[in-house]
Amino acid sequence: MRKQIVAGNWKMNKTASETESLLTELQGMLPDTHAEVLVAPTFVNLALASRQLEGSAIGVSAQNMHFADSGAFTGEISADMLLAIGVETVILGHSERREHFGEDDALLAKKVQQAVSKGMRIIFCFGELLDQRKAGTHFEVVASQLKQALFDLPEAAWKQLVLAYEPVWAIGTGETATPEQAQEMHAHIRNLVANAYTPAVADAVTILYGGSVKPGNAGDIFSKPDVDGGLIGGASLNAADFTAIVAAI
Ligand code: 13P
Repeated sequence: MRKQIVAGNWKMNKTASETESLLTELQGMLPDTHAEVLVAPTFVNLALASRQLEGSAIGVSAQNMHFADSGAFTGEISADMLLAIGVETVILGHSERREHFGEDDALLAKKVQQAVSKGMRIIFCFGELLDQRKAGTHFEVVASQLKQALFDLPEAAWKQLVLAYEPVWAIGTGETATPEQAQEMHAHIRNLVANAYTPAVADAVTILYGGSVKPGNAGDIFSKPDVDGGLIGGASLNAADFTAIVAAI
């Protein structure tokens, strides 16, 4: 059985005290679940989150990192810095990084490679734009994103990878992919991985859906056979909503 994950991407939200409060609420409200639960606060609050959640059922992820070991990269954060505060998972390739910070597939391939070599787990995000969906090129767009950033990795690296399909038109818009659209794309993704590697690698990789997942739609989306959980934005900032989504898996 594949690992199921519900992860909250807090993006650029929550001060230190707000982070502490939300984590306390989450710890109090978290339902019993077979799924792994993660939160990704902003960099400055990662160390406190990591300390506060030590020994709890909630794990911590970073939202980004740099590809180099260290050096003259003002404003950047390295894998070793994350590992030193107990953060072993990192989100890479989020569409907001691609759109607002110019991260492209070639750069992401370097970041993924670095995270792999540091023994980190990567939640790799990708997905098509609205225009691409309308033009019917979404399957090719996703294939290209995966090929360029991931398919040069050795097979062994796939144990460290989690995929997160996030159609850009569904992020923060209130518009979700239908469960059928999510399933269709997730099956396509699994097929791409099977062709690039082996069916066993494809069968083992966790594929999350992200984009306006809410308590009201999470159960239907998670019920699809190739959807192994969710990457939650807005709804992860509210303890009642996030824990209801966890309960839906
Ligand atoms: P929303 O859930 O706010 O649409 O955000 C999804 C997302 O970008 C998670 O990474």
